[in-house]
Amino acid sequence: MFEEQQGSSKSSGASSALQEAFVVPSLLGNDVRRAAEQAPLYRERSEVHPSSTAHPLALLCRVGFEPDLIDELRAWFAARSLVVEIHSAQEAVVRVAAVAVAPRLAELVFARDLLVVEQELSDLDVKDRVTPIGRALGLVGAFAQLVMLTPDSESTKPLAPLLTALEARLRKQATATGDDSAASVWMLSGTHALVGRPPADGGARYPGGVPRLKFPRGAPSRSTLKLDEAFQVLLTEAERSALLRPGLTAVDLGAAPGGWTYQLVMRQMRVTAIDNGRVDATLMASGLVTHLREDGFRYRPARPVDWLVCDMVEKPGRVAELVARWFASGWCHAAVFNLKLPMKKRFEAWLQALQVLRPLAAKQHIRARQLYHDREEITVAVVPTELRRALAPVGAGSARDGKRSRVEPAPTGKTRRPDSPSGKTGGKRSRAEPAPTGKARRPGSPSGKTGGKRSRAEPAPTGKARRPGSPPSKTGSRRSRTR
Ligand SMILES: C[S@@+](CC[C@H](N)C(=O)[O-])C[C@H]1O[C@@H](n2cnc3c(N)ncnc32)[C@H](O)[C@@H]1O
Repeated sequence: MFEEQQGSSKSSGASSALQEAFVVPSLLGNDVRRAAEQAPLYRERSEVHPSSTAHPLALLCRVGFEPDLIDELRAWFAARSLVVEIHSAQEAVVRVAAVAVAPRLAELVFARDLLVVEQELSDLDVKDRVTPIGRALGLVGAFAQLVMLTPDSESTKPLAPLLTALEARLRKQATATGDDSAASVWMLSGTHALVGRPPADGGARYPGGVPRLKFPRGAPSRSTLKLDEAFQVLLTEAERSALLRPGLTAVDLGAAPGGWTYQLVMRQMRVTAIDNGRVDATLMASGLVTHLREDGFRYRPARPVDWLVCDMVEKPGRVAELVARWFASGWCHAAVFNLKLPMKKRFEAWLQALQVLRPLAAKQHIRARQLYHDREEITVAVVPTELRRALAPVGAGSARDGKRSRVEPAPTGKTRRPDSPSGKTGGKRSRAEPAPTGKARRPGSPSGKTGGKRSRAEPAPTGKARRPGSPPSKTGSRRSRTR
């Protein structure tokens, strides 16, 4: 048990009115008691991690999710008998006052990145920002990689050119330390920088939690990036190679038009797509998809499958119950599903869903994140703790016993990638391929609507500074780790 601590945050430079706008008076009274009862779930999910000398923390989240991240952090600290000052004075940013223990990023659902703040420069002189930031980086100690970013919000968009310029000057401070130690500079505004390090167990897989995923040509919906990101962020490399293999089987509940199914099919998995809506014809032509116009809540697989994925727009509690039933019945081995959280108290809704999923924790890892490609929702992965079973050769087990079920269409032997309907295109297209010009959209824009805005997956116009998530220029990326 940790001692109770009280911290105070440094001035962020923002007005107190703004500050108050994001200080969420939620989880009061009965809610606090309930959160305390629920919070041990967070403690259970924690692994031992080293405490350090007290440092303030900064966390990034989706704009509008600051209250939810604050609620989540309060519960995390409450589970450790810690009361810590937590607030948000800026869109997409949550600050935690100096504290000797920090959550792992993997323990949080609503945070996209976490910084252990070692130096705060809140009043930079615009005539020379390089010198003080460089000095602060010097105090952080040796590092091999420099991560520079701004929070993902409209107000910080104009900082892109500044970030590029600063990075070009500061990256020289990175040295060959023989490891992947990193230092980070988060520019909260043109005159306000946070300098520090990712947490001891590493920061976000993608700086700022903004992955560079390319929208695959041929994918029928923008949602495809959600599942791709979930695989990249919520699964380990070992899990990806064990659980995302050709020949495995999946059920996609709420599949139309097929963006998630596309991700599975491109990995040569056989998919039963459940939806009354139409599934993309090219995807169907792959020979790997069986489309059933059934209710996802009533559908039962004839045989167990390797994966359940579910993107149905439904109440989170109902989806959690459905997923729990699939695991309890032994119908699936692993799952990724989306919980729509259009409500105000998203953290509470998540806790309730987590309570439903709790029995699964005996044999599965439950991981969840508000992903970059998510909108008012979070994505949850349930993966077996024991991977050896998953590594059993295809053909072993009831789901792969050679007798094909109605959920397992016969492999044609001539399976085509869904983005290659004619089969005449020759070489396989990499899924890292850029979207065709003019068709890519900003992540998070409604699926199927082009909107004309540039996606983060698209290259930025030449010579212009880039927003987080865009590909690196020759001089380095403002969101990538620079050596
Ligand atoms: C967000 S869309 C899914 C998008 C899909 N994941 C993709 O990548 O293209 C939600 C889908 O869930 C389907 N859906 C909603 N409730 C359903 C139910 N009870 N059974 C089956 N499908 C359902 C809708 O028809 C809709 O196509």
